[in-house]
Amino acid sequence: MNSFVEQVNKLISSRRSTKPRYFNGQKIDDSIVWQILENSNWAPTHGLTQPWRYKVFSGAGLEKLADFQALLYKKSTPEANFSPNKYERMRTNILKSSHVIVICMERQKSEKILELEEIEAVACSVQNMALTATAYNICSFWGSGGVTYTPELKQFLGLGNKDQCLGYLYLGYSDTPAPSSIRTPIKDKVEWIAD
Ligand SMILES: Cc1cc2nc3c(=O)[nH]c(=O)nc-3n(C[C@H](O)[C@H](O)[C@H](O)COP(=O)(O)O)c2cc1C
Repeated sequence: MNSFVEQVNKLISSRRSTKPRYFNGQKIDDSIVWQILENSNWAPTHGLTQPWRYKVFSGAGLEKLADFQALLYKKSTPEANFSPNKYERMRTNILKSSHVIVICMERQKSEKILELEEIEAVACSVQNMALTATAYNICSFWGSGGVTYTPELKQFLGLGNKDQCLGYLYLGYSDTPAPSSIRTPIKDKVEWIAD
């Protein structure tokens, strides 16, 4: 097998999700984050709509995002259900990251392309970022919990009514090896019709 194929195979199977709590606080050079974003831009896209939109938070921007979502959690959670640990995690997950790329989908004005396909294109774009991060030995984690799907976050991000936030891509370095992951055999998920 030629080495390019071997490298691609290795890159894809070695990409792992590393939770931001395992990040070590080391910062990623902005130029690398730009390369990650550049690669995101080469995802397939029906009708070339390129619906991916990213809001990158770093430095003091991380504080802004952390404060916003922790406060939103506090405001929107009845006192009886409020968890101080969750409140703290809402801040630390972001503050332990080097950069947080908020993943958004901008809805096509004409709405000709199915919304489902626009979301699919954004997911492909995010995978490009996760794979690029892996190539740089950078850890990534796509999180969609917390305040991801709230109207308040949409407003905070300045998204249009029909646009959507699809989660955060947390980026950072870690000294803790990523946990191994499993997949059931691909053969169980494929029906191959040859004749
Ligand atoms: C759209 C999307 C949203 C996700 N949201 C979360 C999340 O909110 N919390 C979480 O623990 N993992 C989340 N994950 C990451 C998965 O947990 C992770 O990919 C899975 O555990 C497999 O691990 P691996 O990526 O290392 O193979 C999300 C993944 C995707 C694709």
